[in-house]
Amino acid sequence: MLFKRKLFTGRRKETHPLVWLAAIICALIATAVVIAGIVVFLGYLIIHPRVPVISVTNAHLDLLSNDYAGLLQTQLTIVVTAHNGNAKAHATFSDIKFKLSYQGQTIAVLVAEPFFVRKNSSRDLNYVVQSSSIPLTPDQMEEVNDAWKKNVIGFDLKGDARTQWRVGPLGSLKFMCHLNCLLKFHPLNGSYVPSKCTSKSH
Ligand SMILES: *[C@@H]1O[C@H](CO)[C@@H](O)[C@H](O)[C@H]1NC(C)=O
Ligand SMILES: *[C@@H]1O[C@H](CO)[C@@H](O)[C@H](O)[C@H]1NC(C)=O
Repeated sequence: MLFKRKLFTGRRKETHPLVWLAAIICALIATAVVIAGIVVFLGYLIIHPRVPVISVTNAHLDLLSNDYAGLLQTQLTIVVTAHNGNAKAHATFSDIKFKLSYQGQTIAVLVAEPFFVRKNSSRDLNYVVQSSSIPLTPDQMEEVNDAWKKNVIGFDLKGDARTQWRVGPLGSLKFMCHLNCLLKFHPLNGSYVPSKCTSKSH
């Protein structure tokens, strides 16, 4: 028995140095992948809250009138603010296009020429949107009458803008800002019901 056991241990093969090398390389690669993942995640956490954003910062319902024929007349003032929270890079905003609608009826399309926003600053775009004689369906007329009664009316503002940071002389980081908000007003005095209307970027 003793002899057999000795023979057994004696026969055990040693691990080949190349196998050890391969194992070490695999471990190093795995570690590098994990570290790269953590760096990207932290970069995302640091950068993401500061990506350029577009938000509605103020608004007013200047006019809302509907007649018995079902024609709606309205005027709204909307202040859209483009904010660049990056303290190191200028931002460009372009392809700005937001559609304002009521109950699926387009009232206006808000656009803007491309513009710069300097490091850590913002810029306001003031829109006065006027629309006359929007023909309403009987259901939509009912909605407007209801809005007067409840003293709350909602308009949809939806759209996109492209933004870009210039990084160094050549590079740039691009984002898309998506805005999708319900802007609510009190028709009786025209005041805006403040809500969070800020773009989501990626
Ligand atoms: C960015 O602007 C805010 C206020 O506008 C200011 O308090 C802050 O110190 C600025 N940050 C940098 C890094 O310039
Ligand atoms: C407008 O009316 C709403 C609801 O009645 C009220 O809460 C709000 O304070 C008014 N705003 C102004 C500026 O009078």
